[in-house]
Formats: sequence, structure tokens, C-alpha cells
Amino acid sequence: MRELRIAVVGDIHTHFGDDDVRYFNQSEYDVLLFVGDLPDRKLWQVNAEARKLARVRKPMYCIPGNHDALTLLQLVGEFFGNPLLIRAGAPGHKKRVDRLREALSPAILCGYSWHPLPAPDEPIGLVVGRPHSMGGGLNVAPYLAEAFAVYTLEQSGQRICRLIDEVPYSRLILMAHHGPSGLGDHPTDPWGCDFKKGGGDWGDPDLKVAVDYALANGRELLAVIAGHMHYPTKSNRRHRRWYAHRGGTHFVNAARVPRIQRGADGARHHHISLEIGESCRVHEVWVTPRGESFSVERVEAGGAPEASASAV
Ligand SMILES: [Fe+2]
Repeated sequence: MRELRIAVVGDIHTHFGDDDVRYFNQSEYDVLLFVGDLPDRKLWQVNAEARKLARVRKPMYCIPGNHDALTLLQLVGEFFGNPLLIRAGAPGHKKRVDRLREALSPAILCGYSWHPLPAPDEPIGLVVGRPHSMGGGLNVAPYLAEAFAVYTLEQSGQRICRLIDEVPYSRLILMAHHGPSGLGDHPTDPWGCDFKKGGGDWGDPDLKVAVDYALANGRELLAVIAGHMHYPTKSNRRHRRWYAHRGGTHFVNAARVPRIQRGADGARHHHISLEIGESCRVHEVWVTPRGESFSVERVEAGGAPEASASAV
């Protein structure tokens, strides 16, 4: 087998269409990873969006985001940290997730799970973290308690670490909807807070525990991929640093929103590419209306993004 090619699609928010299906079906990607947030703000959109993704004929994995299968009451409750609203909106959550799973099929809906990805020499373990995370604590607590018996962030971190223990391969990729803490507290950092004065590190501590655990136990953590913190940023629409490299691991925020942008030659569609052979290379890719793709930032392992364009 040649190198493993993975496409990471950030928060879709209804921006995934026939052009994407055609492009990915004809592409050389081996696997597609979706970091969640398929609909805009309307719950009823989620299954329709999932059925669009399901038309791609590639192995696909998707973690539900905070907009996937949550009622408006849940979203508002989480936003304001109101447990009463969160509980009031929670009934039926498990059934909504089941319907989303059906709509996505054959793509696999993930969350507190791990999956083998085919790669040269030895498979890579894709470890998927806490579903529906939006930062700021343990979100959708009634659902996590019912579906996973997870009641605290500490238990959530331990659960992801146990998944890491189960993977029999040395190389791992961690995927979540929202990224880990520890990558900066500025609004333009990968998971820095851009909706509170003064910013702050909005990353998830349970995912950080899993990152540290994987590295401390000698795993080769190739990449941590997530979305949720959109770019450009909410405040002043500034460029968010979508990439960081720490301790041999690529950290990728794929949430370019909207992921379809108007270019000189028409609509351009965004995703991130991971090419994994002897090393792991990361590209930010835009696909033109003619189905051509070009990379505007190329990141080699350990390096900083290059500004010049290059063909993929
Ligand atoms: Fe989002």
C-alpha cells in the first residue's frame, strides 16, 4: 500500500453538496473524517445533511458536534450554562442520535470509540473522543450519563485513555468535535476563546488528558483533529491559527466556516489533507469548480505553514 491519504472536513453547517460528493468519489483519498456540525441551527437539517455525506463512496467517520441532534433548548441551555434548560431539551437525545446514525450510514457515527485505519505496514488507530462537545465543561450531561455512564470531565478523560489502551497499534490519530486545551489562550489560537473579552483557552481538558496519556505511554500520536472554533473568528473576523505542532504531533482545527467560499473562478470548497507514509504531512486544500485541488498552505512534520501555493 502507498501512503494513507485522509481528508478532514471541518464544520459543514449545510455547506456540502453534489460537487463535494463528485470530488471525493473521484479523489485518491482512502478515508474521510468529519468533525461534526452538519446543520446550520435547525435540528431538522441534520439528517438531510447526513444523507448527503452518505453518498460518498469512501470509508467515512463522523463525530457529532454540538449542532448535531441537539434541540434548541439544549443548545441555549449549554450556551448559558443552565442545567434546567439542558435537562428540558434532553428527552429523545439517544433516539435522535440513532436516526443520525442511520442517515449517515454507511459512514460511521463515532464517539468514545476507536477504529482501525488501513496504512502501510501497520493500521493506525483512530480514537474518537467525547461527542457533542462545545467547550466550557461537560456538555449534554444527561445524554452522556444515559448513553456512556460518563458524569464528569475526569471520567470522560479516563474513558478516552481506556480507548487508547485498547488500540493494539503504535500510531494513533485523535479526533473530536472540539479540540484540546493547552494550545493557547488568545482568540486566534486554534481553540482560543473568541466570544469573551480577554479570550482564554477554551479547549477541552479531557482531550488534553488523552493527548498527554498517549504520549506518556509511548504512542506515536500523529495528529489531533477537531473543529468547532470557527475561523475567521467571531470577534473581528480575524484569521485563526488552524495548525500547531507540538512534540511530534500535528494539531489541526478544520473549522473553516463557511467551508465554501467565492473565488475568482467560482465556489471553492475547503478541507484538510493528511498524507501518512513514513512521515505525516498536512495540507490545507481548496477545490475549484472544475474539481481541481490546490494547497495554499503545506505543513511538513515539525515545520511551519508555507505561504506559497503548490499543487496537490
Ligand atoms: Fe460549528
